[in-house]
Amino acid sequence: MRRAQKPAQEEAEKIEMQSPLEHLSREELIQRLEELEEQFRLDKVFSTVAESNANDAILHWQGRSRFLSEKVIPVQLKPVQEQSLNPSKGAHRIIDGDNLAVMTSLLTEFRGGPNKGIDVIYIDPPYNTGEDVFSYSDDYRLSNKEVKELRRKVGRSESLVSLDDPSRHTKWINHMAPRLWAAKKLLKSTGIIIVSIDEHELPRLWMLMEELFGASNRMATLIWERSRKNDAKYVSEGHEYMLVWARNKAELDAKASRMASVPEWEKVKGKWRKRKDGADAILTAYMEAKAEFGDDVPKIQKALNEFFASLPKAHPAKKIRYKKVNKYGVYNDDGNPNWPGGGGPEYDVIHPITKKPCKVPASGWRYTEDEMQRLIDENRVAFKATHKSVPRIITYLHEMESEVQTSVINKTGQRSVETVEAILGKGAFKNPKDHELLASLFNLVTWRDKNAIILDPYAGSGTTAQAVLSMNAEDNGHRRFILIEGGDPTDKKVPRNKYTSEITAERVRRVITGKWADKQHHPRHKTGFHFYRAHDQITKAAIMASTRESLADIILQVVEEESNRIDCRVEGHTYLIGRTRLGYGIALVWQSTKGKKNEQILNWEILEKVLDEAEAAGVTRPIHIYATANAAPIADDLYKFHQIPNSILARLGILNGEGDSDE
Ligand SMILES: C[S@@+](CC[C@H](N)C(=O)[O-])C[C@H]1O[C@@H](n2cnc3c(N)ncnc32)[C@H](O)[C@@H]1O
Repeated sequence: MRRAQKPAQEEAEKIEMQSPLEHLSREELIQRLEELEEQFRLDKVFSTVAESNANDAILHWQGRSRFLSEKVIPVQLKPVQEQSLNPSKGAHRIIDGDNLAVMTSLLTEFRGGPNKGIDVIYIDPPYNTGEDVFSYSDDYRLSNKEVKELRRKVGRSESLVSLDDPSRHTKWINHMAPRLWAAKKLLKSTGIIIVSIDEHELPRLWMLMEELFGASNRMATLIWERSRKNDAKYVSEGHEYMLVWARNKAELDAKASRMASVPEWEKVKGKWRKRKDGADAILTAYMEAKAEFGDDVPKIQKALNEFFASLPKAHPAKKIRYKKVNKYGVYNDDGNPNWPGGGGPEYDVIHPITKKPCKVPASGWRYTEDEMQRLIDENRVAFKATHKSVPRIITYLHEMESEVQTSVINKTGQRSVETVEAILGKGAFKNPKDHELLASLFNLVTWRDKNAIILDPYAGSGTTAQAVLSMNAEDNGHRRFILIEGGDPTDKKVPRNKYTSEITAERVRRVITGKWADKQHHPRHKTGFHFYRAHDQITKAAIMASTRESLADIILQVVEEESNRIDCRVEGHTYLIGRTRLGYGIALVWQSTKGKKNEQILNWEILEKVLDEAEAAGVTRPIHIYATANAAPIADDLYKFHQIPNSILARLGILNGEGDSDE
């Protein structure tokens, strides 16, 4: 036995001394190699990403430190009369241009605050699917000097980012981060931002939102289940996401308490509530018909019947039993008048034609005699042909109980495609969003505020505009939309420079005029929009023609971007307009007395007033004073002079040469 065991033992010892790899099969060796490769890849990835000092996990990308300091050059918004529609009738806006520059320029008018700014911003950005073109800052690896040089020569980069581009996420984040930041600055304190996205960029968007808006301001992540892909190999991913964030949830909570005392919203106690699916669509169709036919109930009823006939089978409006119209609205006359469970009051209800008491329900009436009389007086009782049948109760659609919004929304995307096809013709726009869905969400997050301002910086086919128009039609509201669209360079049919007018504005034009491509009858909307083009950078002439407010805004924009975008504004003074990151005052000598040039020149008298204001506001000297010329004595410790317009142009990188002192 011992002799027999020896060779085996020797063999085992020999094996131990040798590398174990020698005994692996080919397949096992390949597997080991693959594991090593994977380890190598991970080592490389994680060793190149510097550890951050942040307490919690943060999103790392190349360009992170640059995006806050990148200067956005404001643009001039030029009204284009021939592209506008009934501008005297409506304050809506459609702006053709890059959304970052436009949003930055809109700050003058809409900088968000407690009573100012945009109520809802809806963002439907490129999803980075490998098929969409978007502009991105491609200069994150360069020095400031190189960036300046590059920007002068080529501006921003813009191209199709393919799925195998190893820096595709970096490019996408570099596109999104400054835009989300600009959007945040435009939002009212109680404002809400809704961002659509799919699985390609959801993880990065979510982290970016947490960093820019704060995790505590997240309101919801909605899932829109829009299709079923029956040919999917594994799982049909027919949904996308909508990230809903508040600018400041605490402010929103305070607004919710205020809304609880508004009579219309008393019953929902200031909570976000929405009407049952399909109800908004019926009410909009009704209001559009009413706007067109006034009090002609038969014509309104006919239009509503046509609306129902045009709906696809699965449309939720088909399931709602409100289809009749009278002069008070859309109603259902089949409400139950019975006392639940039996034992209700019994009294005579006289039939209006036969003048005899109507049949009483077996369980008695649901209402006291007084309540029943009130319902009869308010035309809320539907009498049958004779007194032999129990009358029914009329309820109106606009009074229907509202319900909570759930995080999963099931609505086929086909309907939105059909709507855009009916308006603009077949193939005019790929993957539009659903205007009814957007309207319902906008109503939800604004408590149906009839004066809400809604901004869509990625307007595409103008779905947001149609949503806002339908919301206004439904309740005679005065909401305003602002659309920004820069043109889709991948569109083969419409050239980039005509895209906003021929796709975005054209859809809105057709919805307002009721002249759709399908040649069917569609209601008109009594409103209009202003069309602007925003391609030209701020120029010397534009600066000189500015009002005090817009010039102050341009100056503060420059200073803010050099101060990591902190809010520098100081309000309520004649000259003082802000303070820098380090607390130095910023003043502007630019009185709006028309034609008086010397109101823009700094002199001794004005300097004294500026210094008085600075002292009262507690800002630090030297004060940075902007004016066209300086006639005051030089005093470096008191103030530093910046000449308008050259100093501003130079700091925007538009004018070569003259740099300004560091503030
Ligand atoms: C996904 S589509 C939006 C679709 C839209 N929600 C609808 O329902 O029709 C994105 C749009 O944003 C536009 N866009 C992309 N980058 C832009 C930018 N930097 N400035 C302005 N528009 C931009 C594209 O041309 C495209 O039309």
